[in-house]
Amino acid sequence: MNAQILDGKAYAQERKQKLMEEIHSLKSLTHEVPRIFSIVTGDDPASYSYATSQQKTAESVGIHYELKIFDLHSSQKDVLKLIHELNGYNDVHGIIVNKPLPANMDFKTIINAITPLKDIEGMNVLNFGRLLLGEEGIFPCTPSAALELLKSSGIGLKGKKALVIGRSEIVGKPMALLLLKEDMTVTVCHSKTIDLPSMTRQADVVIAAIGKPELVKGDWIKEGAVVIDVGINQVNGKLVGDVDFMSVRPKASYITPVPGGVGPVTAVMLMSNALKAFKIQRSII
Ligand SMILES: NC(=O)c1ccc[n+]([C@@H]2O[C@H](COP(=O)([O-])OP(=O)(O)OC[C@H]3O[C@@H](n4cnc5c(N)ncnc54)[C@H](OP(=O)(O)O)[C@@H]3O)[C@@H](O)[C@H]2O)c1
Repeated sequence: MNAQILDGKAYAQERKQKLMEEIHSLKSLTHEVPRIFSIVTGDDPASYSYATSQQKTAESVGIHYELKIFDLHSSQKDVLKLIHELNGYNDVHGIIVNKPLPANMDFKTIINAITPLKDIEGMNVLNFGRLLLGEEGIFPCTPSAALELLKSSGIGLKGKKALVIGRSEIVGKPMALLLLKEDMTVTVCHSKTIDLPSMTRQADVVIAAIGKPELVKGDWIKEGAVVIDVGINQVNGKLVGDVDFMSVRPKASYITPVPGGVGPVTAVMLMSNALKAFKIQRSII
């Protein structure tokens, strides 16, 4: 067997086209488009470059995007003041807080200051709670992207065994909850898990969100399993995932590449969340 590639770039393109069409038709109905506000704090270049790419994606689907930069002299109070103002504006539908934040700011305090309906990163404690309760809400973009790519394989998920490697708040934990919502039988592994390969060998679906280059090997994978690689690691100037693609591909039925897998879909999921937030705020859903 040689796994079919789940092409994130192509999927993201299709998803963007659909978003664009929906935003266009909603504009005819409401005379409005979703408007989102992105906050960059400090001087980390990664944060700026993430914001630039968000802006490109937003504008390509017709979402109005504004950026506010707080320099290193700004305080958490300044950021919170802006968030409180944006929470009150009826024509701002989504707020993003780019990471990393400078040492004088606390991500959780800031993200929880955003009104849950405008928390388009799905990181607010209320949205997390909704996910935990199996309710509808706005959920984190990376695990949502991994789930969409997994579903695009067409394999039925109900009742199958999913194994998530990683338990971070941004990927692993929400990933496990999203899979549970799909009626999968979910196991979560982490750095203290004993004998990880014996766990992965039992899984129909393996989601790797570890941050360890090419850790998951071919002989860890059950014949025909679907392997979703969330990892993004720089090795000698090259991007690689958490899965050893060359040894895993011959064992799996479907696999995501790195780059070109979960990453491009994640960027689109943020815009999909922005549209969802807009529709909820305008009582369209
Ligand atoms: N594609 C995207 O859009 C996207 C977005 C976000 C992140 N990522 C990538 O996804 C990966 C994970 O990100 P993250 O933010 O979740 O990372 P993180 O916060 O560092 O969490 C890593 C998780 O992996 C576990 N882990 C570490 N070493 C392990 C090992 N040897 N065996 C089993 N589990 C192990 C850790 O366990 P403990 O909890 O026990 O420490 C932790 O739960 C990274 O490569 C990151 O760059 C991609």
